[in-house]
Amino acid sequence: MSLTGPRDVGRRMDVAKVTPQSLLAQKQNGAAVTAITAYDYPTAHLVDEAGIDILLVGDSLGMAVLGYEDTLSVTMEEMLHHARAVRRAVRRAMLVVDMPYGSYQLSVEDTLCNALRFVKESGGEAVKLEGGSSQTARVRALTDAEIPVVGHIGLTPQSLHRMGGYRVQGRSEAAATQLCKDAVALEEAGAIALVLEGIPRELAAYVTSLLTIPTIGIGAGPDCDGQILVFHDVFSLSFRESPKFVRSFGDAAELIRNGLEEFRAAVEARAFPNDKESYHMPAGVSFELAGAHPTKDGGR
Ligand code: KIV
Repeated sequence: MSLTGPRDVGRRMDVAKVTPQSLLAQKQNGAAVTAITAYDYPTAHLVDEAGIDILLVGDSLGMAVLGYEDTLSVTMEEMLHHARAVRRAVRRAMLVVDMPYGSYQLSVEDTLCNALRFVKESGGEAVKLEGGSSQTARVRALTDAEIPVVGHIGLTPQSLHRMGGYRVQGRSEAAATQLCKDAVALEEAGAIALVLEGIPRELAAYVTSLLTIPTIGIGAGPDCDGQILVFHDVFSLSFRESPKFVRSFGDAAELIRNGLEEFRAAVEARAFPNDKESYHMPAGVSFELAGAHPTKDGGR
């Protein structure tokens, strides 16, 4: 007998799956693409249930969930572990998995081996990697191996040390021109979508107009084809100062704090659980250990 209820309560199972083709159609029809990160079963369930188009198991996992200072130390094994949990919850959204730092900086072959692991061992439907023109050979190789790739340019957190911090990118004429070239090169190499992070709104709008594939902005203004945010930033669960492009859409920390306070108080007051929340012996079944004498507390 199961002591819990059925899974998938209240979830619509009749909605069409998000695919690279449906994302392209969204861009063509002017329908905004929605995307958010998730790293575990319950949050992924909520994201999918809400009808978000892309669910990214981002390497922001390192900071949002594992408490690291940055994303650089996140490993393949950590990404796989969380991607598998997310996979079990996702039905409609496209499941994109971030390639962590070190998993695609060596050879094209090494990149392909790691990307294949995300597909075969965690059910990822696409991978995301950071970088522009320097990544086109890798994007092409993964695409040739039937692995859809999402590119990521602008402020690329894995380039933290080269950038000298998390700084807005593409503000000079030369940097903006390079970013446009990178975007076009990634599309030509086969990328199915492009994350634009931390760049001026005007530049993001121009890149979006250059490409056939959808752009998904984070700190890139409202003129991208879609928007992505980190789940823990959106629901005030990041415990750090948020950048200016983050908007909170709910305070889960406050909700949980209040709930925990009430739980502690109820247990301390012996008001939880009550009799209705307890199981009872069937009538007529008696139990007593011969020779044992309940202590005062045990007999409560
Ligand atoms: O790792 C991540 O969460 C990301 C998004 C911020 C785009 O790359």
